[in-house]
Amino acid sequence: MARFFYILLVMAILNEASKKELLKTSEDSGFCVRNRYLTRNRAQIKNSGLRFDMDYEVDSTSIQKIPGGISFLVKSIFEDVPFLKGSIVLLTSGSLHVNFDEIHPLFPRFRSPYDDILNSESLHEVPDDSVKVKPNQVIWTYGKQKYELNFSPITIQGYYDETLTLKVNSHSMMNFDRYRSRDADLKPASQVKDTSSPIKILDSAGVYLEKGGELAYFDDLWSETFIDFVDNKKRGPSSVAMDFAFVDATDVYGLPEHADHISLKDTVDDEPYRIYNIDYTEHAVDTRQSLYGNIPFMLSRSSKKIAGGVFWFNPSETYVDISTSNKEKLTHWISESGVIDFFLIVSETPMNVVETYTMLTGPPQLPPQFALGYHQCRWNYISQEDLLDVSSGFETNNLPMDVIWLDIEYTPERQYFMWDHNTFPDPIGMQNTLDTQNRKLVTIIDPHIKRSDKYSVHCEAEDLDLYVKNEDGEDFVGLCWPGRSSWLDFTKKDAQEYWAEHYSLERFPGSTNNTYIWNDMNEPSVFTGPEGTMPKTSLHGDVEHRDVHNLYGLLMMMSTHRGLLERSGNTERPFVLTRSFFAGVQKYGAIWTGDNTAKWEYLEYSIPMCLSVALGGVSMCGADIGGFFGDPEPELLVRWYQLAAFLPFFRGHSSIESKRREPWLSGEPYLSQIRQSLRLRYAMLPYWYTLFFQYHRNGTPVIRPMFLEFPMDKKTAKIDNQFLLGPSIMVAAVIQAGQEKVEIYLPEGKWYDYHTYSQVDYGEIYYEVQENWVPAFLRGGHIVPRQDRERNSSVLKYLDPFTLIVALDENEEAAGNLYIDDTKTHNYQSGEFLYAEMKFKDQKLKYEVANAMELENQIEKIVIVGMQKTPQHVLIENKHGATAAEFSMKENAVVIKLSEVQVNEHWVLTIN
Ligand code: GLC
Repeated sequence: MARFFYILLVMAILNEASKKELLKTSEDSGFCVRNRYLTRNRAQIKNSGLRFDMDYEVDSTSIQKIPGGISFLVKSIFEDVPFLKGSIVLLTSGSLHVNFDEIHPLFPRFRSPYDDILNSESLHEVPDDSVKVKPNQVIWTYGKQKYELNFSPITIQGYYDETLTLKVNSHSMMNFDRYRSRDADLKPASQVKDTSSPIKILDSAGVYLEKGGELAYFDDLWSETFIDFVDNKKRGPSSVAMDFAFVDATDVYGLPEHADHISLKDTVDDEPYRIYNIDYTEHAVDTRQSLYGNIPFMLSRSSKKIAGGVFWFNPSETYVDISTSNKEKLTHWISESGVIDFFLIVSETPMNVVETYTMLTGPPQLPPQFALGYHQCRWNYISQEDLLDVSSGFETNNLPMDVIWLDIEYTPERQYFMWDHNTFPDPIGMQNTLDTQNRKLVTIIDPHIKRSDKYSVHCEAEDLDLYVKNEDGEDFVGLCWPGRSSWLDFTKKDAQEYWAEHYSLERFPGSTNNTYIWNDMNEPSVFTGPEGTMPKTSLHGDVEHRDVHNLYGLLMMMSTHRGLLERSGNTERPFVLTRSFFAGVQKYGAIWTGDNTAKWEYLEYSIPMCLSVALGGVSMCGADIGGFFGDPEPELLVRWYQLAAFLPFFRGHSSIESKRREPWLSGEPYLSQIRQSLRLRYAMLPYWYTLFFQYHRNGTPVIRPMFLEFPMDKKTAKIDNQFLLGPSIMVAAVIQAGQEKVEIYLPEGKWYDYHTYSQVDYGEIYYEVQENWVPAFLRGGHIVPRQDRERNSSVLKYLDPFTLIVALDENEEAAGNLYIDDTKTHNYQSGEFLYAEMKFKDQKLKYEVANAMELENQIEKIVIVGMQKTPQHVLIENKHGATAAEFSMKENAVVIKLSEVQVNEHWVLTIN
């Protein structure tokens, strides 16, 4: 009981520390106020005779050729001496890499770790003859991409197929606050007003700005206070900023994760989008406030056949303003510190832009197949009996489930890598039982380390000097779940190694090769810190936390991923879930949307949230089914399962204060409805796995907003209560209690109800809501592989036969793929996998094996949807010769039964 009160107390602290009003707005962040003020009052400042030196130019005498581009120096147009160095390089993978850094900074400026985030395969430079240097300009041409750099003022234009797509600094918002010493700072306004020399404004941190007719002094440069938290900026102002204009764009998307709609809003008279990883407890929806993870990537959709993308590679606190004018979307990116480092992408479609970005920061991990099954979690299954009872409950109720999870209470006083032996006396025995049910275990491991002399992880971390320091150079101490805690400095290679080693079976006794990991609270969440996180003045070696903040969660889970890889001698694919993330997280594992609430609007927002995360390269996303806080009514819980069956990371989770909600507790008809959703998901696992393989290989997202598949159909541009799973299935959500009809837009083409196979006309339709499912449609022209036998774990499906659902388009054609491997190792990388290509044309379905592996599975059934005439005869030809196949007409489909047709051989089916 004492423990329970302790938990409530800590939760109360957390709630208090991170409620909305205790989070900063852009008005509380001086660097954002200054950059916004300067750019908005630019003309006024110039007209008043003040010198406004945020105009930069390339020093044309400094240009040097480097592979794929140029390096050069940059100066302010009012100064003779360059203060920035720059480089611009075009990459064969399809992006222009642009960098600006100080030449002689007073302190080294932080640059993100390229190796951990970028994919070296995507960094090859274009050949030299693609780069032409002219007196005032440099031009890159590669395929249909063209970029121009103009020297004075610096601007860049990106063209695709001769169409202007992206403009950089066309609104002169580029800014680079150079580090300065306090003494060199300008004097207060009153002291210089009378001098004859013009007032010099060097950059956004220049001291004097005209505000309301008065020369204003911005006093945030060296120190800023938010509530009671004082941020001593010992290094002074250091912001960097740039504008990017997406030409002819109707919409911009991306910037995950915000609890917002998919098409990003204009922000000029409102709050900009904030990019700062925080544990925003009981977060609101429809907000541009930041959440747990961020990916500074944005892309556009245009009415022409072009799209643009920007990846702003800066992990410090960042704000993005968006406005619409002259048929362009103007975006203004402002970061607190670091360097200007960004990648531009211009391409033919938004899909190409997403793929290029995803591979640039990828490749995404191919998850082990069990990770695509259902996960059952709760804070907390309180003992090993409790956990095994729940797992058995899934057996006895005939409910598929692959993974059961343990939250923080399995540890003794939140000391990770240890078990509370009072409640979990035999973790290995417990996992052996799970093994017999073909299930895995995930345990939580958080980054806060309890400061206890009896806790070996703490003692070693102290001895090895692995903790983040406070501004005075001592170990940083704050409160989190275990009480007084410190945090490993994951920017250090030795801390990463130390952490990775802990996942060995020796260092994490009670774990097995089937124990997988959940990294939570890694923004990092610090109950006693400003905005519930670590103070920006904390130190990672010489680097201030302000410079690296958004990287913390990524570096932690990267180290965990490495630990799991090492545990299996690099043979097995890890599964790691993280709450906090940054660009590139798709290489290491999955994310979820954090602590949502058991209300209909959180179900609704789970779609745009995961879709925009997928645009940011991370398809493996899900939301806590049922809502973390509160108790969903059974209808909401069922609707949530029905929707989540179509979202990649499929996990039920609830807070310690919520009532238990294992599916059977809802009773009938809800239990059967939940069972049906789980079964639907498990039948579709071959399609899911094939999509994940394509995502891993090409960066093509698994879940897709409508505009991504139909970029030229402007009606799709803002839709975010429906989406596509791969190219072949479209899903819509039921988002209200008692909803009778769902309004759905089906773009031109053939569509069929996924559940009944009946044809549905395209256009705007009203779908009559069914109790047993959410609306889902098969897209004509596509083939979906399934395994329809009912099993309670993905492992048990491995040898099962396959069913192919062939949905014909208006020409009675369709195509699709099937991928199979051993589900868990890296052997697929040396070619041990099956990849089949299927095409239906001229009444023939051709199944060709592009890459074979040894497999026993058969194809037992083919369902053809949308065939105009009734077949008279069906013939199957394979290595056994040609035989007639049995078929029948079911309401809206032809159902063909096959025998002795293997997945790893060629065959042809002919329908007459
Ligand atoms: C955080 C997580 C939540 C977890 C809880 C206890 O609130 O977001 O999922 O259950 O911590 O570990």
